[in-house]
Amino acid sequence: MNRKEFLKRIGMLTVGATLIGVDAKGMQAVSALTSSAPAGDAATEPSKIDIPVKSLRADVARPVSVIIIGAGSRGQTYARYAASYPDAMKVVGVSDINTLRRNTVAKRHKIAKEHCFGDFHEVFAREKFADAVVIATPDFLHYEPCMTALAMGYDVLLEKPVAQTEKECKAILAQAKKYDRIVAVCHVLRYAPYFEALRQVVQSGAIGDLVSIQHMEPIQYAHMAHSYVRGNWRSSKQTTPIILAKSCHDLDIIRWIVDKPCRTISAEGSLHLFREENAPAGAPARCTDGCPHESMCPYSAIDIYVRRKRHLRVFDLPDNKDEAAIMEKLRTTGYGRCVFRCDNDQCDHYVANMVFDGGITASFTMDAFTPWGGRRTRIMGTKGYIEGDMVKFTLYDFRTGRKRVWDKKVKEIAEYRGAGHGGGDFALVRDFVQAVAAHDQSLLSSTIDASIESHIMGFKAEKSRKSMSKVRIK
Ligand SMILES: NC(=O)c1ccc[n+]([C@@H]2O[C@H](COP(=O)([O-])OP(=O)(O)OC[C@H]3O[C@@H](n4cnc5c(N)ncnc54)[C@H](O)[C@@H]3O)[C@@H](O)[C@H]2O)c1
Repeated sequence: MNRKEFLKRIGMLTVGATLIGVDAKGMQAVSALTSSAPAGDAATEPSKIDIPVKSLRADVARPVSVIIIGAGSRGQTYARYAASYPDAMKVVGVSDINTLRRNTVAKRHKIAKEHCFGDFHEVFAREKFADAVVIATPDFLHYEPCMTALAMGYDVLLEKPVAQTEKECKAILAQAKKYDRIVAVCHVLRYAPYFEALRQVVQSGAIGDLVSIQHMEPIQYAHMAHSYVRGNWRSSKQTTPIILAKSCHDLDIIRWIVDKPCRTISAEGSLHLFREENAPAGAPARCTDGCPHESMCPYSAIDIYVRRKRHLRVFDLPDNKDEAAIMEKLRTTGYGRCVFRCDNDQCDHYVANMVFDGGITASFTMDAFTPWGGRRTRIMGTKGYIEGDMVKFTLYDFRTGRKRVWDKKVKEIAEYRGAGHGGGDFALVRDFVQAVAAHDQSLLSSTIDASIESHIMGFKAEKSRKSMSKVRIK
């Protein structure tokens, strides 16, 4: 079964499913978009674009068995798919140096004691005992476990970024080919129904020829402070530069929508705010040390974690409402530090311009200083225009003046409730288990081959930013 047939099949599976917003006729709707519609009144309520939302249920003969390596936030997210679809996936092993997380996953998935490991090396000291591994360790621990897993015959669900250097990324690609294994990169946005529909509309020709894209990734000010100033991704050297650590998804989505190779990239960006010299007078090392600016500072750790109760997962607390326990974490971990006094170097604003084959251009902006996260995209074609916000998008037809909207309200669909990244997290796992079961990587969108290409765009963007020059991509 090739990918097209598979998609068709999944589309058909949605017929009569218990999903709200699923449209059985959706697969034909794309071609309908290209037909000349009667001129409409642009002021009237826009009509709907009926591209269906696919079921998250994988169609496999037996559950694919996986070992979770890195049972943190992402590892647990992918493991949850097995809890929702036990006929499709079974978690048979877990590895994490954090005992609490390891035990949580072991208990939830009833994993045999002999298949619970600390460091990932222990997994590979055993003979192969599952179909696949999920690698959700920190960025600097992707390359080694992935290379070993492939050599042992495991298929791999690999968190992004693939690896920390272009050379390592290419080595993983070569290793996957050498051992004929599947590597699915967790470019989860490709699987989100919103982005799938957006791409289908562009490919249908509904906006004529694609000419340019503007894509924005608003990080959200508190998320920036949590992850890229105080938290795990604050150092570009220990992880990857933020254009990969955060925005490899966006370069990948742009590349995927354009569907042509990127030829040149030029980037700018810097760390504007979160630097020692910007600390207000009298600000101590920690927000908890009686900072005189605490009540006014948008980045106050007390405000983000204690009052607003955001991003608490990192603390592994038994009760996230226990404010005394949160305060203690702020006193004793990096998350209580003043944002102007951290060991961070990630850019807080970043722009990249790209030119693709055929002269198609794209401009990308990543910004820390926004009230919300998500993505905002504008797509310009010779006959139409699309504008979207990762929840819904509107298609404008120049000739007819008609507006049409894709607005499937994915969050309200029972099956998708709680599935992260617009539903992309679980949809990726669905396609991964299908691909592993059929030993057919064409059932995946984010293959290692495709993902390396957009990662290379990220490495070249960083080279461009640092060298202040446009970089060619061969
Ligand atoms: N696809 C996405 O949208 C997305 C989103 C967030 C993070 N990520 C990526 O996913 C990966 C994991 O991120 P996370 O947010 O889950 O981080 P996390 O810190 O919550 O989880 C990582 C886990 O790996 C464990 N670990 C560390 N060293 C280990 C070792 N030697 N052996 C076994 N386990 C070890 C840690 O104890 C931790 O529990 C990162 O590479 C990150 O960049 C991807």
